[in-house]
Amino acid sequence: MSIPEYFELEGGDRMPRIGFGTWQASDDVLEKAVEAALEAGYRHFDTARAYENEAALGRALNRWIAGDPARRKQLFVVTKLPPGGNRPELVQEYFDASLRDLNLDYLDLYLMHTPFAFEHVPGDLHPKNADGTMKVDHSTNLLEVWKALLKLKESGRVRHVGVSNVSAEQLARVAALARPACLQVELHALCQQPALVAAAQRLAVPLVAYSPLGSKALADALAAKTGREYPDLLQLPAVQRIAQAHARAPAQVLLRHALQRGLAAIPKSTNPTRIKQNISLWDFTLSEAEMSELAALDRGEAGRICDFAFFPGIEKHPEFPFKK
Ligand SMILES: NC(=O)c1ccc[n+]([C@@H]2O[C@H](COP(=O)([O-])OP(=O)(O)OC[C@H]3O[C@@H](n4cnc5c(N)ncnc54)[C@H](OP(=O)(O)O)[C@@H]3O)[C@@H](O)[C@H]2O)c1
Repeated sequence: MSIPEYFELEGGDRMPRIGFGTWQASDDVLEKAVEAALEAGYRHFDTARAYENEAALGRALNRWIAGDPARRKQLFVVTKLPPGGNRPELVQEYFDASLRDLNLDYLDLYLMHTPFAFEHVPGDLHPKNADGTMKVDHSTNLLEVWKALLKLKESGRVRHVGVSNVSAEQLARVAALARPACLQVELHALCQQPALVAAAQRLAVPLVAYSPLGSKALADALAAKTGREYPDLLQLPAVQRIAQAHARAPAQVLLRHALQRGLAAIPKSTNPTRIKQNISLWDFTLSEAEMSELAALDRGEAGRICDFAFFPGIEKHPEFPFKK
């Protein structure tokens, strides 16, 4: 079964359906990983203002671009408006800072990172109160922020705009104004989000799966803090069995599952062998029975890892997207 390697976007642009995640890597490790990713054939790179690594990603990308506009055009670079920037009057300022740190003339995709917001505290992307709760900005107007992103697109310095971490209801609300070029959400074998996938597909919004391998670093950190257990996706018996049957790595099975569901995915790795593995997905096909076996692993809301509980108090925000 052959599946397209790109999502076609407005204006004939193409978003590669396997991108490179960059969260939680130190600057020098990330620069080397991005070099390995470019070498392996990745052209879609995902970062965020909140990851505080835009400058490192920009250095590695610019070494590869080497001043050649034709090479820049081959890349699809994504970053995100942080929760502290979710006010219409702040969008341009945060966007400019990202573009400056990435050291690029334009971005391919700019996402609203979350529908909820923190107070804007210059120099502090994760502002907290004395009691450890987040400084939450409860007055967010989602549609006004979305309008500010759309306005940004008119400037020509970003080709496409989209949203991340929104619910199906929020997606419908922003799409009623203008269809987002992309929806980026947590999505993997234990949290398959069939209703949200269907909603995005109905609206013809390409869906990008983040944490497609289960975000082990985040899961381990949360487990240490909360005592909750997070199963290792790569060790799930069904995933291991299917991987063995195809002589593939478990990660490849998880990523191929996302691709065959019609999604894109942005796995992160800093290991050159695994970086190659995660983009070598085009020459095997999961059978219908294997797809059903993987579908049965879904735990719904209980399978979510990135529930933002690490931002204490954020669940009280009126646009908090996940209902318990
Ligand atoms: N929009 C949002 O709010 C949001 C939230 C979270 C993440 N994201 C984006 O999504 C990207 C991916 O998600 P993530 O970083 O949370 O987690 P992930 O990609 O699901 O998992 C990364 C982990 O898997 C390991 N790994 C990678 N490839 C592997 C392979 N082939 N075999 C075995 N282990 C492998 C990595 O270790 P090694 O590095 O050692 O290989 C790392 O520990 C992020 O980097 C970020 O760009 C977006």
